[in-house]
Amino acid sequence: MENKKIFLSRIFPKIGTALLKKAGFTVTSWNQDRPMTQEELIEKAKENNALFCTVGDKIDQKFLNECVHLDIISQFAVGYDNIDVVEATKLGIPIGNTPDVLSKATADIAFGLMIATSRKMFYLHKSIINNEWKYFKPTGNLGIELENKTIGIYGLGRIGIEMAKRCKGAYNMNIIYHNRKPNIIAEKELGAKYVDFNTLLEQSDVLSVHCSLNTETIGIFNKTAFDQMKPSSIFINTSRGLIHNEPDLIDALNTGKIWGAGLDVTNPEPMQADNVLLQMENVSILPHIGSGTVETRNQMATLAALNIIEFYKNNNVPHIVNPEVLKKD
Ligand code: GLV
Repeated sequence: MENKKIFLSRIFPKIGTALLKKAGFTVTSWNQDRPMTQEELIEKAKENNALFCTVGDKIDQKFLNECVHLDIISQFAVGYDNIDVVEATKLGIPIGNTPDVLSKATADIAFGLMIATSRKMFYLHKSIINNEWKYFKPTGNLGIELENKTIGIYGLGRIGIEMAKRCKGAYNMNIIYHNRKPNIIAEKELGAKYVDFNTLLEQSDVLSVHCSLNTETIGIFNKTAFDQMKPSSIFINTSRGLIHNEPDLIDALNTGKIWGAGLDVTNPEPMQADNVLLQMENVSILPHIGSGTVETRNQMATLAALNIIEFYKNNNVPHIVNPEVLKKD
């Protein structure tokens, strides 16, 4: 492995580099405080055998066809919608990712956004900065309570379950969900009930998105969807910004089709400072920090490094998105 060169597309937690170096690889890393352009990424990838990359790095058909020599691409994230997996599979390039370790941290952000939105926390915090806290208002700045309400989970996978557990434990919320297939464990352990998409929209007091971005989910939360939701409902998205249609969301909030929204992901990212959503009373927005704890990011860096190490050592990628690539060998 001494002669294998690994390139890291960002400044990642040190533990990833340390593991790769310890395993005998030559490791270099992008060290500027901005993401690489695709041209820069292609140029660096060409000088290396493997790529350690993340959300926002454009690993599309163009990139892959210029970098067919790559032995493996290891994504520091659970989502991999920035990567053309079909093309990578065609070219025989394994794609690793980092599931599980970020589920609790991401669910914490969904849960936090739900509470923050229901009590207008971000907006009221800004009002103090704007010198608008004048006196205690018995009928002003009122939020809504979550106790015994219905949480609707769109995509009850690893992160969705963690969100459901938090809602059940803290507020005894009734759990409904919509998935490609029923989640029997969640039904047994949390009393979660599978419903069709329309029922999810109609019955959720809080609707939290935890699916991956793909051709079925892109733009699914649009005007048609928001029109079916309760006027008192809160929409939460900690998955990918492209899953909701932003102009339709703004319109749904302005016309009272829904009550509030909490977003950790936007479309596009980064969101610009003059976005109207940032001025709204019942909206809470964070800059895509779902997995952003020291512990979780260290675990993600460890998994992403182990995917590369195991690949070169044992032709095995512990967390692989396209396992058929390895089976062919
Ligand atoms: C972050 O967004 C991830 O997919 O891990």
